[in-house]
Parts: sequence; structure tokens; C-alpha cells
Amino acid sequence: MAALKIPFFRYPHVFAQHREEVMSAMLLTMERGAYILQDEVRQFEEGIAKLTGARHVVGVANGTDGLIIALRAAGVGPGDEVILASHTYVATAAAVHFNGAKPVLVECGADHLIDARAVEAAITSRTRALLPTQLNGRVCDMEALSALAQRHGLLLIEDAAQALGARFQGRCAGTFGLAGMISLYPAKLLGCLGDGGLVMTNDDDMARRVRLLRDHGRNELGEVVTWGFNSRLDTVQAAVLLAKLKHYPAEMERRRALAARYRAGLSMLEDLTLPPGPDENGRYDVYQNYEVESGRRDALRAHLLEQGVGTLVQWGGKPVHRLSGLGFDQVHLPHTDRLFKRCFLLPMNTSLTDDEVDFICGAIRKFYGVA
Ligand SMILES: Cc1ncc(COP(=O)(O)O)c(C=O)c1O
Repeated sequence: MAALKIPFFRYPHVFAQHREEVMSAMLLTMERGAYILQDEVRQFEEGIAKLTGARHVVGVANGTDGLIIALRAAGVGPGDEVILASHTYVATAAAVHFNGAKPVLVECGADHLIDARAVEAAITSRTRALLPTQLNGRVCDMEALSALAQRHGLLLIEDAAQALGARFQGRCAGTFGLAGMISLYPAKLLGCLGDGGLVMTNDDDMARRVRLLRDHGRNELGEVVTWGFNSRLDTVQAAVLLAKLKHYPAEMERRRALAARYRAGLSMLEDLTLPPGPDENGRYDVYQNYEVESGRRDALRAHLLEQGVGTLVQWGGKPVHRLSGLGFDQVHLPHTDRLFKRCFLLPMNTSLTDDEVDFICGAIRKFYGVA
């Protein structure tokens, strides 16, 4: 098949975008032989702390590890239930599973984010934590979720894999509860050249436990003081990320401008449900994804493909409760099921030009017979 005119994502761009800066940062690091937990990791952690206002940031090997470690450091374990939305990556549920606890899946609301009323209805005497996913670069209703956590004495830990720098009522994703995780996977908002992730927390003791858990349980003197994992953010990746971090505030703005452009080009189409605009309801959205809904989704996606535009349905088209073999056969989530017959992602990344977004909007309007 010929290459698409506008692929869903351009992986080479992750490197090419800031090629020279990234190359020289990597070279400097590699020539020093600085590979494991060297200065760049600390500098990157400090940079993210500055960006987000988090008191502590700890680089880890990937976002999934970050969640596993955060839940473990928080003391989540066998006998506990943890509530999360089914519209998330399997990794969110897997992190609960691998701590011996039970993932309890609930519905999302009209904005595709976890529904606080569904969370409340799912709370039992065994519930230990809420684990909302800050999906698509947008923060959930953290006022409602924080109130629930407080009222029921629950831990609040955020899967903010997709939401670095997104804000709700002035606060950044990942900083609302005991801890938050960010993924640095290449296609993420701030992507490295491989796997990477981080845990943020405002709690000093939590930060200490996360640091121990990511490095074999070793303290700053190199003494093993507890069981731990090997889950360190590579120093070369940290160097890449540090070089890219300088450009990140401008890139968030660029994504927001692209979202506004999609909105201007598509909001007249009745059958299409668009994500909220960039600043709605006290939020600062950063659009990791542009997830739309259409009553004619499959035909529309086929039409876009014919026009050379790649699209995607998240998670291979299935929310977590629909994945076979994970033990969720008895879970019924009709709203999420309906959403997964309608939702898909339009291209949303910093390689896109205004003309490309206009082309995509024009192709969609043509599909609906609107000039
Ligand atoms: C919502 C969500 N949670 C968890 C993850 C896992 O992150 P990672 O791939 O860095 O392990 C991802 C991304 O892959 C994600 O999008």
C-alpha cells in the first residue's frame, strides 16, 4: 500500500523535530559513559517538577512500571479494590493486577473521562484507591474525585500517561492525589526515543519509597534497604528528554491551536461529536489525542483512508472490560460499549501543518456532503 499522505502518527518526527539538539545531547552523555542514574536524570526530573509544580519527580523505565511502583509504594495490595475507567489502556488495570489487587472498571462520561457518579456507585468496603486516567490530554473532574476520595478515605493516584502539563483549576495532571504517572513513550506528548516514564508526588515519604522501588531497593548510599525493581529512566533517554523539554510549552500551545482549527473546520457537522475546546470548564487541555464520535464511524474512517488520512481507535478498538482472558466477562458497561462503536482518533501531533488539518476537515465535510 502506498504511504498515506497524512499518517496517523509520524514516528520519525519524534527524532527529526529537534534532531541537532537531541543528537548533541545524546553524544555528550554517551561520550561521558553516563548511562545509569546520572545527572541528566536528575536535571530532567527537576525540569518536570518546574513545569508541573510537583514537589518530587522520579524517572522510571516506562509508564506502566511507574503505575506499578506508585501503587506498591502507596501500599495497595491483595484484598484491595482499585476503581478505574474501562476506557483506558490495559496497563492501568495491569498495574493494579500486578500488585495483587482487583481492578474495578467503571463507565466514562460524555467527555470520555471517568464518570465520578459511576465511581461513587462502585465504592465498597474493600475499595482502597481511585485511579482515574487523564485521557487524551484532559484532566478528569478532580474536584468531584478528590471529594469522593476524602469522604471515603481512599487513596487517589492518577494515570496521567497522556496528560503532561494539562491543568484543571490551575493544577497540573499528576499532582492532585498521592501520586501521578506520566508516560514518555515516543508517541506521547513528550516522547523519548524508546520507553520512559515518571512518577510525581507531593509527599516526601512517597517519593523516597518510589526512588527505592525503581532501583533495587537501594538508598542514596547504595545500600539495599527493601525489595525493589530495576526500573530506572535511562540517562541517554533523559538527555533526549531534557533537550526536548525546552520546546514542550510551545508544543502544548501548538496542539491546542490544532484542536481549535479542527473545531473551526468541523463544528458545523451534527453527526460528529468533538472534544471540548481548549479552555472549557476551567481546564487547560493539551490534546494528546483528538478523539471524536461519529454515528457513521467505520464508513467515515474508510473514506478518510481513501483520501490518504490515517485514523485510529484507541486500545485496538476495545475498552479494558472487552479484552478477553482478563476476567471481566461479567462486567457490563453499556455507555462505554456504545462509545466504542462511535469513537476514533483524528491525527493530532506536532508534525501536522495547518494545511493538513484543513485537508482532513475538508475530507470529513465532503463525506457529510457539507461544502
Ligand atoms: C492511559 C495510559 N496508561 C498507561 C500507559 C502506559 O505507559 P507506557 O507505555 O509508558 O508503559 C499508556 C501509554 O502507553 C497510556 O496511554
